[in-house]
Formats: sequence, C-alpha cells, structure tokens
Amino acid sequence: HRHLLGIEGLNPLDLRYLLERAESYVALNRQTEKKIGTLRGRTIINLFFENSTRTRTSFELAGKRLGADVINMSVASSSVKKGETLIDTAMTLNAMHADVLVVRHAESGAPHLLARKLNCAVINAGDGTHEHPTQALLDALTIRRRKGRLEGLVVAICGDIAHSRVARSNILLLNGLGAEVRVVAPPTLLPAEIDRLNVRVFHSMREGLKDADIVMMLRLQTERMQGALIPSVREYFHFFGLDREKLALAKPDAAVMHPGPMNRGVEIDSDLADDIDRSLINEQVEMGVAVRMACLEVLSEKLPAVQGAQ
Ligand code: CP
Repeated sequence: HRHLLGIEGLNPLDLRYLLERAESYVALNRQTEKKIGTLRGRTIINLFFENSTRTRTSFELAGKRLGADVINMSVASSSVKKGETLIDTAMTLNAMHADVLVVRHAESGAPHLLARKLNCAVINAGDGTHEHPTQALLDALTIRRRKGRLEGLVVAICGDIAHSRVARSNILLLNGLGAEVRVVAPPTLLPAEIDRLNVRVFHSMREGLKDADIVMMLRLQTERMQGALIPSVREYFHFFGLDREKLALAKPDAAVMHPGPMNRGVEIDSDLADDIDRSLINEQVEMGVAVRMACLEVLSEKLPAVQGAQ
C-alpha cells in the first residue's frame, strides 16, 4: 500500500504487521533518549483542516522521533482562508517535495482525492464521518496489550456511532482480527448503513454492556448535528453515559476506553475516566505515538530511497 486511507482495504496480515511494528516502539518511547534516524531526510507535512490535539501532536512527535523534518501547516493562517482549494493547497505542498502528507478534513473521502492527485504518501488522520485508521490501530494495540489478544473479545462501542469515524475504523479492524463488536446507541445516533457493518446493535447499556471485555465510549459530536437533534446532556448521561453502575454490567475486569476528546459528565463519568485501574485512556494516547511511528516508517519504505542514506 502506498497510502494509509482507511482500515478498509487492509487485511489481517497487514493489520498484525502494523501492530507488531508499533509494539516495537513502545519501549523506545519510554526511554530518555527517544530518537532514531530511520526517516532522516524525509519531509512530513501535517495538514489539519479540523481541530486536533492528540492526532496532530502524535504525528509530529512520531515523525521527529524517527528523524524526519515535520511541518505543521496552520490552516487558520494559510491561503485556504483566501479561498485556495484543498487540491491546490495539497499540490503546493506536493511541489515542495513532501514525502508524507497527513490529512484531516471534514469531508469524507478528502484524503482519497488527494492520494489520486499527489506523488507523496497520504495518511488519513480523520475524514468526516468516514475513517480514522490510526486511531483504530492505536485502540487495537492498547486492547491487545491489556488483554493479550483481540480474538474472541467482546467490545462494546457506545454513543454517537452515526458521526464517528473512530467507530467505523474500529468496527472494521476489530472484526478483521476476530473480536465480537457490539454498538450501543439510541436509534437516532446510528448510521444508516449499520446493518452492513457486521455488529450486534443494542439500544440499552444494560443489555449491550453485559459481559463485555472492553467498553469504548464516544463523544457526542454535536458540531455535526442539526439543532433539534442534539440530545439533552442530562437525559443522555442518564441513559447512555458510562458510570460505575453501568460498568458493573460488563465483565469484572472490563476496561474503559475513549478516543478523546472526552466530555466529562456527558458520555463518561469524570471519576471513572480518571480511574487508572479501569480506564485505558492515557495508554491509548501513549500507543498513538508508537502506531504513528510504525505507519510513517512502513509508508516511507515504499518511497524512493533518500540519496545518501544507508
Ligand atoms: N482521538 C482524536 O482523534 O483526538 P484529536 O481530535 O485530539 O486528534
């Protein structure tokens, strides 16, 4: 693969290979000296049209730890604000001989469009409601490290599935590696294509969390909702927010996950989110750097060699 546009199109061997590569960076990232030079001479550009804390920062750290030059394009102060199109912006960066373009965009399919036009490798860092492949990989790595496997685990993904690229990529990856995926949501927060996604659908946390190994909570993406369809926070938390009472329905050693950013008291109880025995939220962030190092390295190996490199 020349690009990483989604989990769709990757087979179980590809997925396991990326997870193994990422695993090999976890120890390095915990050392004082974190830098290696495998991407020396490469240029990575982060082009984020939507806000990000975790993804943008971890791609930057990942690239720098591998020795690449990393540029963060600030869309807010770029010529996008003067009307330059996505394609023209990306072609401009392409002409500067970028090796890897990491793109986040509100339109589903935007990275795929760029991948057809540009010479550099394109990584999808989240496109609309479609996919967020590196998030699914870091979630899988986090689960595998906690539970020792993915096969046979029951993973309940709860909340705003309709607007979640994280849910979609996770469903594809977890199904691909043999987990049983459930989604728990009110009917209004399920995507139209849910029947084609090979998941069991639940409309109550009580039923959906029963005997789950992993409970993955999602943020209510109110920015993608029409006014009247935004649920009331109090009602939403009562029925679909995760607290200790609802978590008690899952397996006794069930772990809690959230891709972030989280809205405390909306989809997750604040105290539970901070419970380091039950919550894997910080581990997810840590694994994000290792996964992005693996992805950058694997794609860079497909590019023409850097002159002068060994
Ligand atoms: N999980 C995630 O994509 O977080 P950011 O929006 O902060 O990158």
